[in-house]
Amino acid sequence: MESGAMQELVQAYYGQELQSTADLRTSACCDADAVPAWLKPLLARVHPEVSSRYYGCGLVCPPLLEGCRVLDLGCGTGRDVVLLSQLVGATGEVVGVDMTPEQLAVAHRHQGFHAEQFGFSNVRFLEGHIEQLEALDLEPASFDVIVSNCVLNLSTDKPAVLRGVQRLLRPGGEFYFSDVYADRRLPEPLRRHPVLYGECLGGALYWNDFLRLARAAGFADPRLVSDRPLEVTDPELAALLGEARFFSATYRLFQIPELEDACEDHGQAVIYRGTIPGSPSRFEFDKHHSLEAGRVFPVCGNTWRMLQQTRFAAHFSFIGDFERHYGLYEGCGSSLPFDGGARSALHSSGSDNATTAGGSCC
Ligand SMILES: C[S@@+](CC[C@H](N)C(=O)[O-])C[C@H]1O[C@@H](n2cnc3c(N)ncnc32)[C@H](O)[C@@H]1O
Repeated sequence: MESGAMQELVQAYYGQELQSTADLRTSACCDADAVPAWLKPLLARVHPEVSSRYYGCGLVCPPLLEGCRVLDLGCGTGRDVVLLSQLVGATGEVVGVDMTPEQLAVAHRHQGFHAEQFGFSNVRFLEGHIEQLEALDLEPASFDVIVSNCVLNLSTDKPAVLRGVQRLLRPGGEFYFSDVYADRRLPEPLRRHPVLYGECLGGALYWNDFLRLARAAGFADPRLVSDRPLEVTDPELAALLGEARFFSATYRLFQIPELEDACEDHGQAVIYRGTIPGSPSRFEFDKHHSLEAGRVFPVCGNTWRMLQQTRFAAHFSFIGDFERHYGLYEGCGSSLPFDGGARSALHSSGSDNATTAGGSCC
């Protein structure tokens, strides 16, 4: 099947076949109980029709969004857009892009309802393909954060999506997104299977191919935030997939050209000030960086830059510079980075100071 036919298949799957989250045949969408407590009041304000057609696989609400411009790729009916619109507030903006008219129709139908509830209107929904973001009227380097929830796997041209993200992120901005990954490259018949594809499994990247793709697109040091194994609940699909295992994972990719492809030790450190709302004593930056307030925390050059050249800067003190080099950080590993469901022992993936934070939720 060529890429146009795959996109039509995806549009039919999300536009007509699926009517609600309950129709999915995997555990990709976790239940509302898994949503963190601080987000529940915001979720309660989302119109029920929007929530009932949520097909995401992770949580795409990073901290410090107030006043930010955020873009949601493959926004569907807009559950995450509505959550994010509350987080960016009246001075921010959230733009959702999706190619399926039926999904966008639901999003549009309840736009007024949400604006009335919040007392401001800061959301736009655009119909378009995420492989052709340049066709939309969006200014280059104008977004602080780009998010996406269970969509990249459905794209027939993933490098084009990442190039578009690079173009639209402002310097220091980040692509914070959840998606499905496989523990291996899938054989062609599975990749082309219509239901497996629609269910976000057939198009899922082998995790290490994703890392290669991200680096090739200029995101030199992808950071894993959280992950969980997915269960294929439909016995027929499970039989087709055999030994292949799938994971939902959230990554953050920063638009920082100076990042290197490995964790280099320049003798630097940071001290978290404890000022990020909701994280007074500890800030979980990624799966391997759990930063306790007030404590000197040695970091590699990349982590230093991810905190110093981004919206996180005001919340840290920075120790050191790039004048000296002490070699590679220990533990720059390359084995399966996800927890649970793996057969072999797991190690960290290219990060300094590994302190595994464990599971995830959405
Ligand atoms: C699994 S659903 C996730 C929807 C939404 N992010 C959520 O969490 O509910 C995938 C969505 O991505 C959209 N989509 C898939 N491929 C796309 C593409 N190439 N361009 C734009 N939208 C796409 C589909 O129309 C669908 O709404």
